[in-house]
Amino acid sequence: MAFFVHHFCRRFSTSAVRNVAIKHVTVIGGGQMGAGIAQVAASTGHSVTVVDTNDDILQKAVKGIEGSLKRVVKKKFADKPEAADAFIQSVLQNVSTSTDAESVVQHSDLVVEAIVENLKIKQDVFGRLDKAAPAHTIFTSNTSSLPISDIASATNRLDRFGGLHFFNPVPMMKLVEVIGTSATSQETFDSLLNFSKALGKTPVSCKDTPGFIVNRLLVPYMMEAIRLHERGHGSKEDIDIAMKLGAGYPMGPFELGDYVGLDTLKFIMDGWNAMDSENQLFVPSELLNKLVAEGKFGRKSGEGFYKYK
Ligand code: CAA
Ligand code: NAD
Repeated sequence: MAFFVHHFCRRFSTSAVRNVAIKHVTVIGGGQMGAGIAQVAASTGHSVTVVDTNDDILQKAVKGIEGSLKRVVKKKFADKPEAADAFIQSVLQNVSTSTDAESVVQHSDLVVEAIVENLKIKQDVFGRLDKAAPAHTIFTSNTSSLPISDIASATNRLDRFGGLHFFNPVPMMKLVEVIGTSATSQETFDSLLNFSKALGKTPVSCKDTPGFIVNRLLVPYMMEAIRLHERGHGSKEDIDIAMKLGAGYPMGPFELGDYVGLDTLKFIMDGWNAMDSENQLFVPSELLNKLVAEGKFGRKSGEGFYKYK
């Protein structure tokens, strides 16, 4: 329940450690979000290292970045194939990969964590990185739903810890939610706002409350669509068509759930339900739980509510 309390006063930095310009970024997790964050950071001149658990995943992440860059340059360099190739190469030169997070962070100004939505795993990673990273390094999580202050509690750099919440697909979505806890220093918060702008994104300032702004509205909407379907009040296809054509959404709620990842959606709901089981908006869905138990995570696994090639 403490998480529901708004923190209106942000502590100004009492630390002697000053933030420096962000040049090198470590992205922990090379999945959908980590690869996208690495891509936009590298495209805007930052040197980026993506860290994941094995080289196969990292190779897939770099391939994903290359594929996405090819889509980006189609518009950016429409009739200039050589300039397009040169841009892709220059961005890829800014990206390196590693499975050794502790050694990478020794040279990093910023860490952006985008691993599985699990508090204990995130805390474990940050606890280890805190010992390895220089004092000036800012730590951030891209969590969809977990309290930033809970993740930060595994470290001794509470004033240099915040949230940077990106949206999927990162190269296309213009928003970044910048989250400060009651302990995040103003200097750190300003660095995160400036970093988001340097990526070409529009930041909004958020309190450390469940789902920040977007997910607090978007996740209950997706869940209510699933419950509507479970009650037999509409096929998923009709619900998707209805929200696209009747409300102007680019994707219907089932398409969007598959796009986000049904595992991630379930982790979010389970966490919120554990926090506030009385809230009807946080009631779990049997259908969602069944799909996840069957390994149907959406687009990333080839099947979710729909099948993908
Ligand atoms: N990389 C680069 N370019 C991409 C891309 C990617 N990953 N995905 C799409 N694009 C580009 C395409 O190349 C295409 O460019 P052109 O217009 O130049 O051809 C353009 O985007 C449109 O793509 P498509 O024609 O394939 O499809 P679309 O028009 O449906 O757009 C979309 C795709 C941008 C993803 C759009 O469907 C959309 O905005 N969907 C909603 C996404 C959304 O709501 N995201 C938030 C999810 S919630 C979240 O992220 C938070 C959380 O914590 C869970
Ligand atoms: P994903 O499953 O696509 O990728 C997660 C990656 O993290 C995997 O490659 C996995 O191997 C790696 N990983 C797991 N544990 C690790 C560890 N200890 N060290 C290094 N790498 C590790 O997930 P995703 O969709 O990219 O989501 C990542 C985070 O971003 C989650 O916290 C999620 O809630 C959040 N998020 C997701 C979306 C979305 O739409 N998918 C949007 C915004 C935020």
